Amino acid sequence: FSQPVSLADDARPLVFPPDFRWGSSTSAYQIEGALDADGRGRCIWDGFTARGRILDGSSASVACDHYHRYPEDIALMAAAGFDSYRFSIAWPRILPAGAGAVEGRGLDFYDRLVDALLEAGITPIACLHHWDLPQPLEDAGGWQGRGIVGPFADYARIVAARLADRVRDWMMLNEPNVVALYGYGLGEHAPGLRLGEQGILRALHHQNLAQGAALRAVAAEHAGLTLGTVLNLQPVVADSDRPEDAAAAARWDAVWNRVALDGLMRGRIPDALAEAMAGFILPGDEEAIRHPVDLLGVNYYSRMTIRREAGRPFDAGWGDPRCRRRTDMGWPVQPEGLCDLLTELRTGYGNPAVMITENGCACDDVVTPDGQIHDADRVLFLHEHLESVARALADGCNVKGYLCWSLLDNFAWAEGLSKRFGIVRVDYDTLKRTPKDSYRYLAEVVRTGQL
Ligand code: BG6
Repeated sequence: FSQPVSLADDARPLVFPPDFRWGSSTSAYQIEGALDADGRGRCIWDGFTARGRILDGSSASVACDHYHRYPEDIALMAAAGFDSYRFSIAWPRILPAGAGAVEGRGLDFYDRLVDALLEAGITPIACLHHWDLPQPLEDAGGWQGRGIVGPFADYARIVAARLADRVRDWMMLNEPNVVALYGYGLGEHAPGLRLGEQGILRALHHQNLAQGAALRAVAAEHAGLTLGTVLNLQPVVADSDRPEDAAAAARWDAVWNRVALDGLMRGRIPDALAEAMAGFILPGDEEAIRHPVDLLGVNYYSRMTIRREAGRPFDAGWGDPRCRRRTDMGWPVQPEGLCDLLTELRTGYGNPAVMITENGCACDDVVTPDGQIHDADRVLFLHEHLESVARALADGCNVKGYLCWSLLDNFAWAEGLSKRFGIVRVDYDTLKRTPKDSYRYLAEVVRTGQL
C-alpha cells in the first residue's frame, strides 16, 4: 500500500515521555502451538479449524511453537529494548473443561514464561482471554448466555492466585466486539454462528458481565494491581451526508464501540440500543458491568466508514472505496484515526490511562536472497501511527505505552498462516525467527524515545 508520503511534515519534535512503555503483543492461540501438550483441553478454534473454515487450510497446531521456544522470543524482545509484553493465557490449558478441574501443568507454563520475562527486565501484561474459549463452555451456550459469567470469574481468580505476585498488569478480555460480530453474527470466526443482531448484542452483553465479574475477582484476589481490558475501538464515520448513512453510522458506533466502552466506563448501555437489549438486561446488570479501569487497552487498526446497507446486521455496510492505501488485509491505512480516538477518550471519557495494546499491519513480505525482510510498508505504517500517538500525547492524552501487533508472524485466525503481521518473520517450515526492518525501526524509536 506504499504511496510516497512525507514521514514528518510537522515541525514539532515528536518525543515520548521517559516512562513511556514499549513492547509488543501476542495471543496464546496464535503463537503457542503445542495444542495437545500438558493436558490442554479443546477450544472453539480447534473445532472451527477442523471444520475447514481457515482460508489457507492451515491450523494453529504448531504456529510459532512459542510454547517451547519462548526463551528465544523473550530474547528478541529484550534485544529490541522492549520493557513490556502483552500475552494471553489459554483458558483451556488452565481449565481443560472450562470449569472444574485445574490443570497444574498449564499454570506451570505461564509461571515459567512470567519468570523468564521478569528475568529479562520485561514487564508482563497478562490478558485472560483472547478468543480461545473452552469448547465445553461454548456447548453450554458460550457468550450467548449468562451461564458463562461464573466460570470466567473463577478462571480469572485461579490465574490471579498463581501469578499476581509477579504480574501486576491484567487485562480481562480482548476485543469483545470482534468476538460478538465475527463469532456470533457473521460466523466468520469461531464458533462460526450467524445469530443476527440479537446474537451479537447478547454476546456483547455477556462479555461485559463476565468482564465485570472477573475484574472484581482479580481485585479481590490481590491488592494493588493495574486492572483493565482490551477494546478494539474504531472511529466511525458516515460514508455520505445522506441521513440514512448518518443514522446507520450512529447506530453502528453504539454497537461497535459504545456498548463495551460505555458499559465499562459509565455503567450505561447506549440509549440507541436500550430497546434491542431489553430482553436480556436484568436489573443490576449495568452496575455489575461498570468497574474502575486503571489501564484501558486500545487496539487500533483503522477507522470504519459506514453506509446504510440493507441485509447486513444493523443495516451497516463498511469499506472505504476512497481510501487508496490499504494493508495486505485490505484494511484502510488511516493513522490520523488513532489520534482522533485518543482525543475522544480524553474529552469524552475523562482521559483514562490508555495503552495502545495492538497496532500493526499485514504485509506481503518478501525475503531477499540474503534472507532479509525489508518491510518498508510496515515501517511506514508504524511510523505514521506513532506520529499520531505523539501528537495525541502533545495534546494531553494520557497514553502510557505502545505495543505493536505483533512480535511474530502468527496464526491470523480465519486467515490462518497466510497473513503476516510480525516485526519478526517466522519461517513455518523451520520455525526460524528473522527480525525484519520494522523490528530494527521500532528498536531505534525505543532507544531514542523520539521519531
Ligand atoms: C486483532 C486481534 O483484531 O487483529 C488479533 O486482537 C489479530 O488477535 C489482529 O491477530 C489481526 O487480525 P487477523 O484476524 O488478521 O489476525
